[in-house]
This record gives sequence, C-alpha cells and structure tokens, in this order.
Amino acid sequence: MERTFLMVKPDGVQRNLIGEVVSRFERKGFTLVGSKMLAVSKGLAETHYGEHKEKPFFGELVSFITSGPVFAMVWEGENVIAEARKMMGKTNPQEAAPGTIRGDFGVQMSMNVIHGSDSPDSAKREIELFFNESELVSYEKTISTWV
Ligand code: PPS
Repeated sequence: MERTFLMVKPDGVQRNLIGEVVSRFERKGFTLVGSKMLAVSKGLAETHYGEHKEKPFFGELVSFITSGPVFAMVWEGENVIAEARKMMGKTNPQEAAPGTIRGDFGVQMSMNVIHGSDSPDSAKREIELFFNESELVSYEKTISTWV
C-alpha cells in the first residue's frame, strides 16, 4: 500500500485547520498511520526543501516553515500520493480550484496551508526525514470494504 507525507504548515495550525485537513483525508478513505506536532528546525527545513535550494524563494520557504509548529502526518492508501496532491490543489491558492484544500483555505503562495510529497521518491525521503519507523503503525480498517 502506498504512503505519503503530508504536513499542515504553520498558517494551517494557526488557523485551526488541522482537524479540517485530517477529516478530509479520513472521509476520502485514506488511513492515518502516523502524526505529530513539531517545531521544524532550520536544519530540518533546509534538508526537507533541499531541492529548492537555488530558487529565489528558498529563504522565504525555510523561514515560513520554521515560523511556528507544524502537524506532520503519514497517510496510507491506494494511489495516495497523487490523490492527496489533487485534494490539496495547485501550489498557488489563487489558482487552486474550489473544493481543494488550498482553493478553499489559502490566499497567498507562501501560506498555502499544506505540504504533500510529489512523488514516490519524495514520499519515502520525507517520511524517513520526519518519522522513525517506531512512530508509524500498520493496520487494517474493518470498514475498508465499504469505501
Ligand atoms: S517548483 O518551482 O515548481 O518546484 O515549486 P513548487 O513545487 O510549486 O513549490 C515548491 C514549494 O515552494 C513553495 N513556493 C513558494 N513559496 C514562496 N514564494 C514563492 N514564489 C513560491 N513558489 C513556490 C511552494 O508552496 C512549495 O512548498 P511546499 O511546502 O512544498 O508545498
């Protein structure tokens, strides 16, 4: 079963959107297998966003993600990486469709509520960066035959 890394960013935490975000993925039928609140250190932020090091907005990315607590999660399910990206909507909230998380709750490019892995390779890398294996569970939902 595929896994992805999702994170409610500092703006989402400040705006009390953790429950809303978790609820959307639960109702969709995905399974939460790990989660925690944490303050992202500068080092962790620079590693996490390493692929954007040369981009002009790298400094802004790092300072925003370290500006307040985040809610990190690992979700499991069929095609969850791509499906979660669809549910998040486009990076720029002003271009994200209504019904998506960013389309419904975001306004600015940097404050776009949620981060999600964009490929199986980044999902693996990001899950390992934020979670130990002992922090993740593996279980079956008996209701799963209904969704
Ligand atoms: S890119 O250039 O296509 O690789 O960028 P993208 O994948 O769309 O975005 C990568 C992360 O950078 C954030 N971002 C920005 N932040 C501030 N200002 C600007 N202009 C900007 N452009 C992109 C974007 O929100 C992504 O953050 P995460 O946490 O990965 O969603």
